[in-house]
Amino acid sequence: MRDMVGSDLKAIRGRLLSFVSEPAGPGDRSSYCFIEDGIVVVRDGRIDAVGEASELAPALPPGTAVDHHPDGLIVPGFIDTHIHFPQTQVIASYGAQLLEWLNKYTFVEEQRFADAGHAERNAVFFMDELLRNGTTTAVVYATVHPGSVEAFFAESERRGTGMIAGKVMMDRNAPPGLRDTAQSGYDESRTLIERWHGKGRQRYAVTPRFAITSTEEQLEAAGALNRENPGVYMQTHLSENLREIETVRQLFPDARHYTDVYDRYGLLGERSLFGHCIHLDDDEVRRLSDSKSVAVFCPTSNLFIGSGLFDLKRLSGGADPVRVSLATDVGGGTSYSMLRTAAEGYKVLQLGGQNLPALSAFHMMTRGNALALGMGGSIGTIEPGCFADLVVLDARATPAMAHRMETIEGDLDEELFVLMTLGDDRAVRETYVQGRASK
Ligand code: GUN
Ligand code: ZN
Repeated sequence: MRDMVGSDLKAIRGRLLSFVSEPAGPGDRSSYCFIEDGIVVVRDGRIDAVGEASELAPALPPGTAVDHHPDGLIVPGFIDTHIHFPQTQVIASYGAQLLEWLNKYTFVEEQRFADAGHAERNAVFFMDELLRNGTTTAVVYATVHPGSVEAFFAESERRGTGMIAGKVMMDRNAPPGLRDTAQSGYDESRTLIERWHGKGRQRYAVTPRFAITSTEEQLEAAGALNRENPGVYMQTHLSENLREIETVRQLFPDARHYTDVYDRYGLLGERSLFGHCIHLDDDEVRRLSDSKSVAVFCPTSNLFIGSGLFDLKRLSGGADPVRVSLATDVGGGTSYSMLRTAAEGYKVLQLGGQNLPALSAFHMMTRGNALALGMGGSIGTIEPGCFADLVVLDARATPAMAHRMETIEGDLDEELFVLMTLGDDRAVRETYVQGRASK
């Protein structure tokens, strides 16, 4: 620990778990660091030191506040790599697949975000809900209205979280109230980038919604925004639903495939996040792999909208490995909880004859998703220099969990599997943002 005089210092004590590498499989002890009674020392919002409580506690200056969670499992704050903040009142909308679901529910609700007050209220609710679920960083779609991005970033800044977000760009196949133009979408995005990208912890994502709702001119403009603003992210949807794919084929008859539509406009790359990626052909997988793009696995959404089953083995374990991250995709997704999301991910993979070991799931929710965002060393792990964004979990949070835990004696893999299979917001005891209790 360095000299602590004059800085904002505190400590958080409990059972600490943080990953150092991607788990090779169940029980891969070398992939993580676990301290049964550990302390995280936080100075000015960042982790200053991590270690055994027996060593670090005596070295703390007298009077240092220590939040003690004796049986709490402290892991890095969860990272959600694809979520729609204007869909908090779309979640749980009945009986439709993607294109109908967008027209019948989503596009209706998103129009309400023309009202700044509505956007501000929803931003508050959305941030409350993320933090209640232990999510401290998310990659977020706003609406087409610049004010929705303003409301969201302002709320994130107020809470001290690090968020990535962008104004949706849509210049066709959407209601008039939700359409911009290639030029206005470019101009508004550029203004938002200037205002928010790199302001404190906030980062911007250029956000053409998907190929169906953007003209070629608008995709060109999105590519220009990407090129002209190094460091910004790009997010969109890709190959989620069969009718969507057929529509893209009709709209872009010259493209080799759906991925090629984005590729033509310079939208692939290591800061590009493609939601869903369910029905890709081999050439598309190769292009995503070559460009180091990220395929985002959204299990609860894929099940709820009936889109299909993500093939993790093919994407991340094949000859052309694609970087993969995990996400809720609320409101197509049905839970804000990354624990629930991991549970549904496990089931999706089971249906494809695959597995998701608990260690791999927890790695994905933390360090893995941080690496997908190029933010390793800043979030996603508990190590000096990282932001002190942490979540305290309780594997005995409900009667069913406590009952099941009676059969588990000190096996971390099993505890994590109970947490992801039975856990949700009730298993989140506390969420720290820059060391501040924020739940
Ligand atoms: N494709 C285009 N827009 C959306 C959306 O809002 N949700 C999902 N799941 N897919 C989309
Ligand atoms: Zn989505």
